[in-house]
Amino acid sequence: MCGIVGYIGKRNSLPILVDGLKRLEYRGYDSAGVAVINSATEVKLFKKAGKVKEIETQIPVNEFEGNVGIGHTRWATHGEPNDNNAHPHTCMNEKFYLVHNGIIENYKTIKKKLASEGYVFHTDTDTEILVNLIAFNYKKHKNNFEVAVRLSLCEVDGTYGIACLCIEDPGKIIVARKGSPLMFGVGQDEIIVSSDASAIIAHTKNVIYLEDGEYAVLRRNGIKLKTIDDEDIHREVQEIEYDLDMIEKSGYDHFMLKEICEQPDIVQNTYRGRIKFETGEVKLGGLTNIKEKILNAKRFIITACGTAWHAGLVGEYMLEQYCRIPTEVEYASEFRYRNPIIRQDDVVILVSQSGETADTLAAMREAKKHGATTLGLVNVVGSTIAREVDAGTYIHAGPEIGVASTKAFTCQLMSLILLTMMIAKEKGTIDDEELKKIGAEIELLPYKMKQLIDKKDYFKYIAEEFKDAKNFLYLGRGLNFPVALEGALKLKEISYIHAEGYPAAEMKHGPIALIDENMPVVFIATKDGTYDKVISNIEEVRARKGKIITIATEDDDNIADYSDYVLRVPKTHEILQPIVNSIPLQFLSYYIATARGCNVDQPRNLAKSVTVE
Ligand code: AGP
Ligand code: GLU
Repeated sequence: MCGIVGYIGKRNSLPILVDGLKRLEYRGYDSAGVAVINSATEVKLFKKAGKVKEIETQIPVNEFEGNVGIGHTRWATHGEPNDNNAHPHTCMNEKFYLVHNGIIENYKTIKKKLASEGYVFHTDTDTEILVNLIAFNYKKHKNNFEVAVRLSLCEVDGTYGIACLCIEDPGKIIVARKGSPLMFGVGQDEIIVSSDASAIIAHTKNVIYLEDGEYAVLRRNGIKLKTIDDEDIHREVQEIEYDLDMIEKSGYDHFMLKEICEQPDIVQNTYRGRIKFETGEVKLGGLTNIKEKILNAKRFIITACGTAWHAGLVGEYMLEQYCRIPTEVEYASEFRYRNPIIRQDDVVILVSQSGETADTLAAMREAKKHGATTLGLVNVVGSTIAREVDAGTYIHAGPEIGVASTKAFTCQLMSLILLTMMIAKEKGTIDDEELKKIGAEIELLPYKMKQLIDKKDYFKYIAEEFKDAKNFLYLGRGLNFPVALEGALKLKEISYIHAEGYPAAEMKHGPIALIDENMPVVFIATKDGTYDKVISNIEEVRARKGKIITIATEDDDNIADYSDYVLRVPKTHEILQPIVNSIPLQFLSYYIATARGCNVDQPRNLAKSVTVE
């Protein structure tokens, strides 16, 4: 939920830290700061509330010349976003400097112990407690930096990804992780620490991922990897799959617009090499070792958060309709705490773009604890969920920088479609003709999606009509109900307009009281088995003067009579229609938000990956 960077090597650290923080800012951007050990072996600290680019111009760079440094861009959990609570944090005697991603749950207990030892605190954060605990253990254990960090982490409950400097031991950075991602790139006589690969890729593709409960002592020319129980670890260097231009804007105004527009290409990466179009046969190599478990599953439980949860709802419809396997969808944050009934013949599917969402990670561990088989549908290669599930299939959406998820959502849907097709074929619950039809439609899908990308100016024109709306309703039935939820979430999170997704039929059970001439209502009304019912629901809203925007297929010459605005989409197989229907809703939210002057890539209060509870 925040971004951590570190550098130790032959080059001046400050520019590398600042560039790294800019690349990580999508993870949290309340405040930012750096600490550098300069040539006079002092630690220079600069931190402020605000965005990295605002802070960058204020740093007195000549005082920050040095080859060792750490940086942080924050998403606050303890203490409001201000200069004082910004990271890096130092201890009372200013010997240690720490950046931290996560939550120290027992910080109050530790604070009390340290206060009784005379420690004084100056911030509202939990992180400041940890850096003072390290100082306390340093003094207690013969001024040994590594032992001090290790023993302090043994006292901590909660989650952390940290990078720590010690002014009395300036030739090293100590990093550690438990529950928050951390990795480091191994360059030529230099090491770059980061929360994820986007701050490393410009320097090297050779990386080492830390696992939970591990720490590393990083020197310019050497790495020592251990567990906090003091056991040595050997970890192979891995190579990052993507390169720098995949995380640049490539001429678009925002990452979100780029990621919406690249979906016709990106979605092909999800199914490339995994499907035979002419037969609709699907092979998911990553699931081979649990294939029997999947085919014999008595139940699927799909658990996720946010947009990924919406994808899970579409998955539920598909898996039940085509595979006839009982499927439930759970908010990970609820699932992990309600002592769920999980059986050994359950297959729990974790859907997560980042693979680091704390609630989804905890739900996975809860499922494993009960002996269920865990299956990951994850985007970020090497992420914690991807590494801990029994098996998984990467959605291959590439780096998604915009906080509002778009291409990851459509790739999650495509992954669930492939999973459905594979299972239905193996279990004989789908006939070959139907499978062939889906295969043929998948081959055409990128062309159909591209038609929508080419209509973005029309979507922009419609969006600008509604930029001053105060509320929105999104309504759909069947597979389009989760699409309505996702459309509402997109609008909420980037334009700050209140929006609600609802099953279209549910309107008359209460929410229809909200309808008046000021209420825009988006109906997803593409032709499927419930189309006539949706038309009735549209009539109910029109009778109360609601403004009607419909998502409808190109061949529907009936819908215009019921709509104020029609956003037309190509018709495809019903299992693929949610992917197509999502695109106009993505554009609608994007253009309303930009018309309102909102920061669509870094919306207020949000972060790309919620790695705290
Ligand atoms: C989606 O637009 C949001 N940014 C958010 O709901 C996100 O989908 C959710 O936090 C889950 O993230 P994950 O897929 O990385 O687990
Ligand atoms: N808990 C720490 C704080 O509130 C770190 C939050 C984060 O992960 O960004 O400062």
